[in-house]
Amino acid sequence: MPHDIEKVRNDIRAILKNPDYDDGSIGPVLVRLAWHASGTYERKSRTGGSNGATMRFDPESNDGANAGLEHARAFLEPIKQKNPWISYADLWTLAGCVAIEAMGGPKIPWKEGRTDRDPKNLTAADVPPNGRLPDAAKGQDHVRQIFYRMGFDDREIVALLGAHAVGRCHADRSGYDGPWTHTPTRFSNQYYKLLTTVNWVKRDWDGPLQYRDEDDELMMLPADMAVIRDPEFAKIAKEYAQSNELFFKDFAAAFAKLLELGVPRGNDPGNAPTAPNQQKHKL
Ligand code: HEM
Repeated sequence: MPHDIEKVRNDIRAILKNPDYDDGSIGPVLVRLAWHASGTYERKSRTGGSNGATMRFDPESNDGANAGLEHARAFLEPIKQKNPWISYADLWTLAGCVAIEAMGGPKIPWKEGRTDRDPKNLTAADVPPNGRLPDAAKGQDHVRQIFYRMGFDDREIVALLGAHAVGRCHADRSGYDGPWTHTPTRFSNQYYKLLTTVNWVKRDWDGPLQYRDEDDELMMLPADMAVIRDPEFAKIAKEYAQSNELFFKDFAAAFAKLLELGVPRGNDPGNAPTAPNQQKHKL
């Protein structure tokens, strides 16, 4: 019998609204879980990526960049218990897609088929090392280095960062504080509109360098500022500020690509446990 993905989608939709959590939705933190589960990929060594759901294991589970994602994983755990046939790797990536769609974003092409690493046969090489996710304190060179390593180009980088339209920074997780937009549970091109029109200034506060708007209600990370400081990035950001439709189209493709990193498909062995020779594979 084919798996009932629609039922899992409904189960995810049913838990998104949560009046006691942040801005009333757990959608943003689910998007971040899907991204961080996938964003460890390194194309050259074919390691990391969404396959395996390795964020359950040390050292990835304890990477400072993943602080707070234990909440996202805990929110999804009852759905895993209800639908034991789905892998964590599929559930986490699907939840990111369902959340984006439910927050008004584009439909993301998503495919099932990820498998989970078995904790009983885990070796150190199965879990990506810390330090593969971007450092918010850094600028365009770092951002390019991280995303080129995964196999993305400038356009895809700028499109992906538009996810900061939703959610917020938490001082007790990343050390940063506040939302990027006034509508942190609505997925739209607001991030680019604000980036390109607001006069962002350094925030004077007892925390890491971040930027604020005039009313000190919204924030940008140094890494976000790279999107307007770098001329190539800025050109693309302006296109997305002009056209929500173009942003949705490019974002859906880039996010779908992100979630596929490291996933074996057809003749491509990815880096699944069933492909023990993948380390020998020459690119
Ligand atoms: C240069 C790249 C990036 C950097 C430096 C970065 C950094 C951060 C930081 C510091 C936070 C705050 C975490 C917290 O305190 O809870 C955050 C949140 C978030 N990020 Fe990113 N991010 C990047 C790229 C992305 C991408 C590619 C996506 C998705 C496509 C994404 C989606 C999100 C979402 C949805 C949140 C909000 C989470 C919540 O509300 O709990 N980010 N990011």
